[in-house]
Amino acid sequence: MARIHNFYAGPAVLPLGALERAQREMLDWEGSGTSVMETSHRSKEYDALHAEAIQLVRDLLAVPDNYHILFLQGGASLQFCMVPMNLLAAEQTADYLHTGTWAKKAIAEAKHFGQVHIAYDGEADGLTRVPQQADLQLTPGARYVHFTSNNTIKGTQYHTFPDAGDVPLVCDMSSDFMWRPFDVSPFGIIYAGAQKNVGPSGVTVVLIRDDIVAQCRDDIPTLLKYKTHVEKNSLFNTPPCFNVYMLRNVLQIFQEMGGLQKIEEINRRKAGLIYETIDRNPDFFRAPVEKESRSMMNVVFRLPSEELEAQFVAQGKQRGMVGLKGHRSVGGIRISTYNSCPEASVAAVVDFMKEFAKAHG
Ligand SMILES: Cc1ncc(COP(=O)(O)O)c(C=O)c1O
Repeated sequence: MARIHNFYAGPAVLPLGALERAQREMLDWEGSGTSVMETSHRSKEYDALHAEAIQLVRDLLAVPDNYHILFLQGGASLQFCMVPMNLLAAEQTADYLHTGTWAKKAIAEAKHFGQVHIAYDGEADGLTRVPQQADLQLTPGARYVHFTSNNTIKGTQYHTFPDAGDVPLVCDMSSDFMWRPFDVSPFGIIYAGAQKNVGPSGVTVVLIRDDIVAQCRDDIPTLLKYKTHVEKNSLFNTPPCFNVYMLRNVLQIFQEMGGLQKIEEINRRKAGLIYETIDRNPDFFRAPVEKESRSMMNVVFRLPSEELEAQFVAQGKQRGMVGLKGHRSVGGIRISTYNSCPEASVAAVVDFMKEFAKAHG
């Protein structure tokens, strides 16, 4: 069996063990004589799986008891509108930090519901960094402060979260959720499409604090209310059963590996190796992102010409490496090294980078 080196930005590589388990259990899930996809979401078997997946998120991240963990559908993109729809009235103001494409999409959705104040606009710096605390122009008494913890396209990441005082933070963590342990308590809502760091596409993990749930509006459609999903433990309607199953498989492996501290150590080593290769040869590799804002998940860089970039991507593919092409909106090279990207894959791409630079530098 030939598994390639997978650097896609999402959906992204999953742990081999999680896939093999699914393969083993595909036709006969835990002796039930059927697959998880063919099992009622009201069965005791699914119930146990659902509870286990929630517990794994809680244990791995040390999520306090006053947070609900939801498994929703519609991707992070639906959360762009669900957050303001639930929390923002027409005359209220929410602060948004603009650090890239996904932040901009979240901002556009919020404008349908209330007042949006851009408390930081990274366009002037070409979105090559995330803000420092001093850069933020926060609105006193804002409803919430929304930011994107990792900017998948530009390759920037917050290494210190914004401090909004008593105002709840709302964060799109789609591309760095659970890349390391962190304190959940300043956050009112955290949401993340699973397909980068914790599982397959089709399930979005949402963490929401009790007091925020209580403040959510009631005069909106049932399926779009956080309250509905909290009250029904994400089982108001049919959940994405197979995706939750895969998420469970992935998280169980993270737990067996030693939890998020261990995952962070590995992630830092992987991204560190690539950045080191870039920094050692600045005449050939150009990293546009400010060092303090470099993403540990998506490493972006340029080569001396677009022709060389195309060649790098094509040759990489011949060597069994996929997903090296930067996002179509920015070009260049992007290497995504999410939680489940093996260290061996990073070692292989780093060897290839060095060889390529030697041949063309
Ligand atoms: C940071 C971030 N937010 C949101 C999204 C959109 O996620 P979805 O496709 O699950 O709606 C992406 C997708 O790449 C992303 O990287």
